[in-house]
Amino acid sequence: MSILVESNSMTDNLKYRVAEAYASAISVGPIGVFDSGYGGLTILRDLRKTLPEYDYLYLGDNARAPYGSRSFEVIYRYTLEAVKELFGRGCPLVILACNTASAKALRTIQQKDLPGIDPTRRVLGVIRPTVEILDKVSKSGHVGILGTPGTVASESYVIETAKLFPEMKVAQQDCPLWVPIVENSEADGVGADYFVKKYIDMLMSKDSDVDTLVLACTHYPLLIDKIRKYTPEGMKILEQGHLVAESLKDYLKRHPEMERRLSKGGTAEFLTSENPEKFDSLASLFTHHPVKSHRCTLD
Ligand code: DGL
Repeated sequence: MSILVESNSMTDNLKYRVAEAYASAISVGPIGVFDSGYGGLTILRDLRKTLPEYDYLYLGDNARAPYGSRSFEVIYRYTLEAVKELFGRGCPLVILACNTASAKALRTIQQKDLPGIDPTRRVLGVIRPTVEILDKVSKSGHVGILGTPGTVASESYVIETAKLFPEMKVAQQDCPLWVPIVENSEADGVGADYFVKKYIDMLMSKDSDVDTLVLACTHYPLLIDKIRKYTPEGMKILEQGHLVAESLKDYLKRHPEMERRLSKGGTAEFLTSENPEKFDSLASLFTHHPVKSHRCTLD
C-alpha cells in the first residue's frame, strides 16, 4: 500500500483506483460457479474433469430456487447478489452455470454492473459456448431448444443463434415440470416418461426437421435416458457441461492475465443459501459423490 502515500499529486479518486488495481492484480482465487440450486453441479462436474487443476467455489441459491419461472427483474437481482458474494469470497471469475440466469442476467451484469464493481473480474455464461458449436453438429440446420419457461421466454438461444448462424432455424419448448421431477428424485419414475414424451412431442410438432436437441437447462442431463427414448432415431442431444468446460479452457488460453489469477489446488467447496444438510443429501444425485456444503446468506 506504500504506493498510495508516495505521490502527493494523486487525487483521492486516483489513489482509490490504484489501490483497487493493486489489490485485484495480486489476488488469486477459485473459479466461482453459480446456479439457482443443484443443477449447476452437472456443469461443475465437467469443469473439474476438463480443468482439474483449478479450485472451484460453487454457490447454489437453493433458498430461492427454482428461478425458471421468475421475472427478469427478480432473476437479475438474485444473480447479481450471488455474483457479488462470489467476488467477495475472492473469485476473479464467475461462471453462471444456470441457463435461466445466463439468459436473463448475464448481459446486464457484464455491461452495466461489472465496470462499477471491478472491471478486472469476469462473469461468463453457458449459452454462448453452447450455441457456438451448433453448426458443427446440426446437418439439417434445424435445432431444438429445451429449457425452463424463463430461458425460452428470454429468446436468448434464438437471438444468439441468429447472430452466429443467421440461416439456422430454432424451435423452442419450455419443460416446466422437468426440474421438479429431477429434484423430487422422480427422474426414473413412470411419471417422468409421460412428461418427457409430452414436451419432446410438442417440440417436434413445431419443426419435424430438427436433428439436434439442446438440453438448455442444468437439470435435463439427469433425464437423458428418457429423453433418448422419446426422440427420433439419430437425433443429436447436446449436454452443456463439456461444451462449457472446453469453452472455458479455450478462454483461459486466450486470457493468461485471468488464468494467472486462478488458484490451483484442485479443490471444490460448496455454498448454499438453504440448509446445508438438505443440500448435501440431494447434491450427490448430481455429483455421484458426497458433498459437504456450508450456508451463506444472499442479499
Ligand atoms: N438451473 C436452472 C437452469 O439451468 C434450472 C433450475 C431453475 O429453474 O432454477 O435453467
